[in-house]
Amino acid sequence: MKVLLRNLSCSLLRQQFPSISFAFKSFIPTTSQVRYKHIMSISDNLAKLGLDEPTTVLANSTPKFNVVDVFRNYITSELHRLTEIDSQLIFNALNTPATLDKGDLILPLPQLKLKGNPKEKAGEIAENFNKGKYVKEIIAQGVFLQFYFNETTLSNLTIHDSLTNKTNYGSLPIGEGKSVVVEFSSPNIAKPFHAGHLRSTIIGGFLSNLYEKAGYNVTRINYLGDWGKQFGILAVGFDRYGSEEQLAADPINHLFEVYVKINKDITEEGENSATNEAAKAYFRKMEDGDEQALKIWSRFRDLSIDKYIATYKRLNIIYDVYSGESQVSQESMKDVVKLFEEKGLIHVDRGAKLIDLTKFNKKLGKCLIEKSDGTSLYLTRDVGEAMKRYNKYKFDKMIYVIASQQDLHCQQFFEILKQMGFDWASKLEHVNFGMVQGMSTRKGTVVFLDNILQETKEKMHEVMKKNEAKYAQIEDPDKIADLIGISAVMIQDMQSKRINNYEFKWDRMTSFEGDTGPYLQYAHSRLSSVQRKSGIEDSELVNANLDLLVEPCAHNLVRTIAQYPDIIKKALKTHEPSTIVTYLFNLTHIVSQCYDILWVAGQEKELAVARLALYASAKQVLYNGMTLLGLTPVERM
Ligand code: ARG
Repeated sequence: MKVLLRNLSCSLLRQQFPSISFAFKSFIPTTSQVRYKHIMSISDNLAKLGLDEPTTVLANSTPKFNVVDVFRNYITSELHRLTEIDSQLIFNALNTPATLDKGDLILPLPQLKLKGNPKEKAGEIAENFNKGKYVKEIIAQGVFLQFYFNETTLSNLTIHDSLTNKTNYGSLPIGEGKSVVVEFSSPNIAKPFHAGHLRSTIIGGFLSNLYEKAGYNVTRINYLGDWGKQFGILAVGFDRYGSEEQLAADPINHLFEVYVKINKDITEEGENSATNEAAKAYFRKMEDGDEQALKIWSRFRDLSIDKYIATYKRLNIIYDVYSGESQVSQESMKDVVKLFEEKGLIHVDRGAKLIDLTKFNKKLGKCLIEKSDGTSLYLTRDVGEAMKRYNKYKFDKMIYVIASQQDLHCQQFFEILKQMGFDWASKLEHVNFGMVQGMSTRKGTVVFLDNILQETKEKMHEVMKKNEAKYAQIEDPDKIADLIGISAVMIQDMQSKRINNYEFKWDRMTSFEGDTGPYLQYAHSRLSSVQRKSGIEDSELVNANLDLLVEPCAHNLVRTIAQYPDIIKKALKTHEPSTIVTYLFNLTHIVSQCYDILWVAGQEKELAVARLALYASAKQVLYNGMTLLGLTPVERM
């Protein structure tokens, strides 16, 4: 009876204190609500070139959005004519080689399962292949066929498409009508924002943008650590050490200060001290739904969220929902326990309830789902929260961006949901990542996201000042230092595979040399400056005579720009930001090779316009890639 009453009062109270999420959803428009209109420039330009649009519809092929797919379709139809092998099989076997010298597409012939000697077959096919206006060259290399695209066709389609669709170049319609929930960052109120939260924020922000680019409807959720005994401790601490003024001015740091002080008291006074008992009693009151107790807690929560919103904004992240452990209802957790009891999967050990998951998977072990005093646990709350989210969003996929230290935790609650009979449990995915070594500010102070960004900005400012002449020209150096500093932190994080650990290195990441965030920003601002100095208007670029782009470096740049939609597709498979980062560094290296050869200044107008169209196209892709990663590209620095 007592339990029942408690649940009742609690849910009533939650109605009086609706989660902040509802309040937000209504007035902050998210990017996912702003649908873009794709311009069918590829179709238009095919017509101008006197070429037909691909007619066969193949799975995973989006030739209206991806120029390479137009070529893939042509090559597929030609190979189908020559071999009579199933078109889809051929299409799927056309891969992108690691380097441009091996072609634009490569086909390992054994994948087609042709009869006869594959080497001989490769030669035969190469000989009889009708290149049309699509293929410049086809080379049989052992059992591989290498295809090199016709450059005129490629530049006309690619450059026009990127300059027409601009920020939507690279967008794909593959997720149309589907929805994804991405949960990321999820810090704990009154505790430090550690490296794990930073990585989750960076990777999760990127994944959300990526799914949006692929046409999915994305919901960004921040699942705060905002419940548990520590909030009883915090409330007692605030009574003793809190200051309303400081709370209003800097809630995150102030709450942490209070938390540290009161914890020190408890350690000194002992577990059985009056202070600790008061904290426990306080949290009990919160769990019982005591209005007064919840009022203070919800003020701490709301003030912290206000501050978080501003900080995430600096990283171009806007959440749809601030959820949290507090938002999981007691009822749903009781349901979890009940369901497992019915299935006979619960063990009671000294009053605590456990589930034995070894039956399903040895590695998952036994896990505690309810403490002896009836209070819920992190694991149970995750189960309840997932159920709530599925009811609300009916997602096609839900991604949890959490450190690999919680691999077991995720496997456990995914398995629990599966055993509860929810077929949507298979739609859950844990995107994990390794650790960061040595992330503390240079002053050695405790780290919050704001502190990290502040210190990176200062460091970046120092680096920029070293080039006095340039520094003097920057209009708002403080703002630029902030944006480049953020890029430094983010690129360092996204540069290698997620699962790798890395060391936080101030000097390395803020350098303008090598593959760093500041270098990407520099590359972007240099492309902007080429355009500014040329005096050529954007509107002139669409009519550029691209046949004038004859140099090999120009071709390599076009070929690389054309790969961008494929790169987006690849990143959707790998869930690796490094897929994009590596591509962008490659792109910028090719651009810098072009600068020595493809001059714009001092050239005849027609040639200058053609070359500038190429640079503008490269800049667009760099811009799109950087914003996809969450960076703000700068025009000058
Ligand atoms: N607040 C947790 C922590 O700091 C992370 C939460 C991750 N998300 C989840 N659904 N368990 O460790």
